[in-house]
Amino acid sequence: MSLRYKIAYKIAVIGGDGIGPEVTSAAVDVMKAAADKCGFELEFKYLKAGGCSIDEFGIPLTEETLEECRNSDAVLLGAVGGYKWDSVPADKRPERALLGLRAGLGLYSNLRPAILFDELADASPIKNAKNIDLLIVRELTGGIYFGDHGRYESDECLSDGSEKGIVAYDTEAYSEAEISRILREGFRFAMGRRHKLTVVDKANVLESSRLWREIAAKIAPEFPEVTVDYLYVDNCSMQLINRPSDFDVIVTSNMFGDILSDEAGMITGSIGMLPSASLGAPGKPGMYEPVHGSAPDIAGSGKANPMAAILSAAMLFRWSLDQAEAADMIENAVRQVLKAGYRTPDIISSGEGIIEADTDMIRENVIKLL
Ligand code: IPM
Ligand code: MG
Repeated sequence: MSLRYKIAYKIAVIGGDGIGPEVTSAAVDVMKAAADKCGFELEFKYLKAGGCSIDEFGIPLTEETLEECRNSDAVLLGAVGGYKWDSVPADKRPERALLGLRAGLGLYSNLRPAILFDELADASPIKNAKNIDLLIVRELTGGIYFGDHGRYESDECLSDGSEKGIVAYDTEAYSEAEISRILREGFRFAMGRRHKLTVVDKANVLESSRLWREIAAKIAPEFPEVTVDYLYVDNCSMQLINRPSDFDVIVTSNMFGDILSDEAGMITGSIGMLPSASLGAPGKPGMYEPVHGSAPDIAGSGKANPMAAILSAAMLFRWSLDQAEAADMIENAVRQVLKAGYRTPDIISSGEGIIEADTDMIRENVIKLL
């Protein structure tokens, strides 16, 4: 009998809504196969959050689900939301599950890599796109998403004070500690990459952004190997189109990171390819999810691209389980599958050697090539 000790990791799996369950199931199969090859074990716990949790428990995220996630080594999430819950009141919408998980697990650092695979260069809307490999580090538990918000009646509804009516407000507030924590994260990732950090803000208008810049300037000397530059978010959105390959690491606030990561996703050819990791304090479970949404219109059709979920699983291995070998294995297999010509319909691609693929074909071929 072999006495070899096998590590078993606990993974919470939240398929969610729409195509979420399909893509996570493909990712789970890939994880099992890679773990087998690398000699470690995984225990999966399936949980509900988002619309399916509203249907079953009346709320998008239960305390039990959150607790199960806290007690896992990592969380793999598909996507939440769909037309079905469009008329649900704002504080009970499926998206609240995501915000609840982010806040409840303390996931302040959201990593969204945008890589243009050579094989997908023709799918990018950018002419002659190549060498795009950037990482957006988005602050995830602060800013306008979590700031004070509400509505009130006012006698002065227009800036000239001439109209009565309702005023709605959301507040962008960032503490020094929150800003330093995420900026340091940006610097650290830049150190592990091409040593370039772009701090993105709106410091020409917003006080909170001015604090970001001040703190970045204070931290920069701790990382002398990193070249820092600063861009206003409007300019950054333009430069991402103009010279995407110049970017290495972008660090920014919750809201700006949300917007820029969709843009960065698009320039790589398909949002169906983009994984993400949300990390909290060291040793705490991270959450991994594809950047794409629940795409209810194609749910159940077999058209969903599971690559973003599979690449999210690779990030999970790398960042939460410290299983870099298994992560590399998955990432290489995905590349090979792209090289072999397999494409789901979200990747605009034509030409010789292209094989129209569905979710299962991608999953099977990734597993075969591990
Ligand atoms: C994202 C999404 C979410 C966000 C929504 C669904 C709440 O757009 O993860 O980028 O705004 O953070
Ligand atoms: Mg978004």
